[in-house]
Amino acid sequence: MGDLMIENVIEVKDLSFSYTKVPFISDINFRVREGEIFGFLGPSGAGKSTLQKILTGLCTSYSGSAKILGVESRQYTNAFYENIGVDFEFPSLYEKLTARENLRFFASLYKNPTRDISELLDSVGLLAHGDKKVKDFSKGMKSRLNFIKALIHDPKVLFLDEPTSGLDPNNAQIMKELILAERDKGKTIIITTHNMQDATELCDRVVFIVDGQMKALDTPRNFIMSRGATRVRYTYTENQAECEGATLLTEVGSDPLLQRLIAENRITSIHSSEPTLNDVFIELTGARLC
Ligand SMILES: Nc1ncnc2c1ncn2[C@@H]1O[C@H](COP(=O)(O)OP(=O)(O)O)[C@@H](O)[C@H]1O
Ligand SMILES: [Mg+2]
Repeated sequence: MGDLMIENVIEVKDLSFSYTKVPFISDINFRVREGEIFGFLGPSGAGKSTLQKILTGLCTSYSGSAKILGVESRQYTNAFYENIGVDFEFPSLYEKLTARENLRFFASLYKNPTRDISELLDSVGLLAHGDKKVKDFSKGMKSRLNFIKALIHDPKVLFLDEPTSGLDPNNAQIMKELILAERDKGKTIIITTHNMQDATELCDRVVFIVDGQMKALDTPRNFIMSRGATRVRYTYTENQAECEGATLLTEVGSDPLLQRLIAENRITSIHSSEPTLNDVFIELTGARLC
C-alpha cells in the first residue's frame, strides 16, 4: 500500500449478495472516509454482519464492488489482512491459553510490527489477568480481550461487530471509550449495532439497514435534527390538580398558556425532548431496532 493517501478507505458500489437463490443484500452504495466511525444500524437479521463479512473478505460471491484501500474484497491476499482488524460478535479465543499467550499467538501471524501486549492489556484493565487462562474469564473480560486481539497488528481499518452487545453498562462504557480512543489515533472504524444509543454516541455517520437494503445514510445529528421537532412538555397546577401541557420548542415564546403560567409562577416541571435515533429509524424504515 505504501503511504499513499486514500481519502475513501472503503468504497462500496452497487453491492448485492445472497446466501441462497432469494435476493438478500442489494444495491448497497457508500464510502467511508479515513478516520471516520461508520455504523451499520438495523434490527437483528438485517444483514449487518453479512455486509461486514463481505468487506472483510469472508463472503466473496457478491456482485458489484466492495473495496478497502482500493483493493477489491474478493482479491485480498494474506498480506492485505495486515491492514484490517476484526472483532467478531462472538469472541474467538483459545480458552486453554492465557490472555498473554493468546495475544502472542495472534501477533505471530502478522508481519506488521505488533503492539506492546502489556500496554494493550493495561488499556482494557486486564494487565493483572494476563497470565490467567481465558476459560476463567468473564464475558466482559473476553470481549475486552477479543477487542485488543483485533488491534494487535495495529491495523488501519477496524471492524467491530456489535461491540457492546451483552456487556453490562460499565463494560459497555469502557468499550465505547476504547473505540473513540482508536478513532483518535486515526483508525477508520466500521461498527455494526442494533443499539441506537451506541450509534448516536459513537458514529460520525450511520447507514440504516433493513432486510438487506440501505434505507438512509446521514450523521446521527442530522437524522435527529431533520426529522420531528423538539417538543417542550410541562406540568402546572390548576384547581389544586396537576395538569400537563406541551408545545413545540420553536413556539415557546408565543404559547399563551405557557406564557401565562410562567408569569403566574405555576409551572411545576418543564423539559424538552428531541426525537431519538430510534424514533427516526422507525419513521424512515417502518421497522423496529431489535
Ligand atoms: N452462512 C449463512 N447461510 C445462510 N444464511 C445466513 C448465513 N449467515 C446469515 N444468514 C442469514 O442472513 C440474514 C442476515 O444475517 P446477519 O447478516 O447475521 O444479520 P445481522 O447481523 O443484521 O443480525 C439472516 O436471515 C441470517 O439467518
Ligand atoms: Mg450481526
